[in-house]
Amino acid sequence: MSTHIEAKKGEIADSVLLPGDPMRARWIAETFLDQPKLYNDVRGMLGYTGSYKGKPVSVQGTGMGIPSALIYCHELINDYGVKKLIRVGSAGAYQPDINLRDIVIAMAASTTSGINNSRFINADYSPTANFELFMKAALYAKEHNIPIKAGNVLSSDEFYEDDFDSYKQWAEFGVLCVEMEAAGLYTIAAKYNVQALTILTVSDSLVTKKALPADERETSFSTMIEIALNTLH
Ligand code: ADE
Repeated sequence: MSTHIEAKKGEIADSVLLPGDPMRARWIAETFLDQPKLYNDVRGMLGYTGSYKGKPVSVQGTGMGIPSALIYCHELINDYGVKKLIRVGSAGAYQPDINLRDIVIAMAASTTSGINNSRFINADYSPTANFELFMKAALYAKEHNIPIKAGNVLSSDEFYEDDFDSYKQWAEFGVLCVEMEAAGLYTIAAKYNVQALTILTVSDSLVTKKALPADERETSFSTMIEIALNTLH
């Protein structure tokens, strides 16, 4: 058992999907995995291990934002030996040609978080996806005619910005969408030499101000989960 995860050694697979929402972890486990078994309920941050196409896979909720996600990533990597981590989450579109339900793979993650400022004083670190996982995901999508977009995303420290137009500067520099965890995941994965990727489904748009209805958020995420599970496979 680690500080925030009550699983015994060996109960968590080498490959883990990371949704922010613990209820989505339950939904993924019950919908996509064979024989899912709950290994964590500490703070309600549900974690399950089951199998996908015969191979063990775990799903662990991370909570919202980099500080929460880093707690779970740190313990998964250092206390349970996890080697491949794929965040599966929602995002807000920053570009007019990114629509609700689109799938975006984060090649890199810019951030408003300060986690790397205290490490790399007066310099910028670029948190990037693992190339092998990225290629596998992109290839799976191509072979199955699933349209994807890929590029730089923003991992924001605030969901509610003071200035709702502040996204425009990121958009001008090619950032595709906003979420809240990828830069933390890519940084800690690099630090401990494990593989990480972030796959996102667009749930709202800062450009059009449209959002998916709550009941559609879950079902529209199925394609992203399918890509993620086959990337880990
Ligand atoms: N996740 C989904 N939509 C988001 C948004 N607009 N900002 C930050 N994270 C998000």
